[in-house]
Amino acid sequence: MTSNLTYKPLAKAFHWLTALLVLLTIPAAFIMLTPGIERSLQDPLFLFHKNIGVVIFVLVALRLAYRSVNPPPPLPASVPAWQRHAAAITHWLLYALLLAMALSGYIRVTAGGFPLEVFDRIGLPRPVPRSDSLAETAKAIHATLRYPLIALIILHIAAALQHAIIKRDGVFQRMLPGAR
Ligand code: HEM
Ligand code: HEM
Repeated sequence: MTSNLTYKPLAKAFHWLTALLVLLTIPAAFIMLTPGIERSLQDPLFLFHKNIGVVIFVLVALRLAYRSVNPPPPLPASVPAWQRHAAAITHWLLYALLLAMALSGYIRVTAGGFPLEVFDRIGLPRPVPRSDSLAETAKAIHATLRYPLIALIILHIAAALQHAIIKRDGVFQRMLPGAR
């Protein structure tokens, strides 16, 4: 029964949509913070980064809820125990860091008194007081957590490609759309 060994279609949809948005929003953040960048480019990038960050938070929360009732399929027996542990730790850290990045960004923007254009329009609550010191703390957390997040994403993609190109053990196919 190979179909038991791949992620369910909804789990794959969560993965690829989140991956796409994360891989777009990180470069957007670096470009929007480039010294001397034109306001006509900086403003839309800020708008994109902040609002897509909230979407990423919602996607990760939904993914974790879905995962709790639809656990990941078992890995092939050929994957050694240490790699199973490493994969599990990496995946949990990725989820935790994505949630922490989105939350610290949200607190930084709300405590700093800045708009969250799309979500303000649909009435997203902002239960965080206006406070410059809280905004600065959240900003520092947001800036610091980018290092472990980017390092783990590189490690994760390298491991996925190693399974796809070198080991060819079917682990990569588990997450491919349409693969059964
Ligand atoms: C998982 C989602 C997110 C990721 C991966 C992410 C990543 C980043 C990165 C890498 C930077 C550059 C940091 C630096 O060079 O100092 C940044 C900056 C920034 N991010 Fe995010 N971010 C996310 C979510 C959010 C959210 C939800 C908001 C606001 C609602 C936000 C607001 C900001 C702001 C305002 C900056 C500019 C730094 C500052 O002045 O505070 N981010 N983000
Ligand atoms: C080109 C980019 C990417 C590729 C090729 C890729 C590939 C994969 C593969 C093959 C798996 C399944 C691993 C297994 O069965 O154990 C997986 C799982 C996962 N990926 Fe990615 N990925 C990519 C980008 C990302 C990004 C950017 C993130 C988030 C920052 C991410 C987060 C995750 C998480 C959290 C899981 C675990 C899923 C779960 O069990 O809930 N991936 N990825």
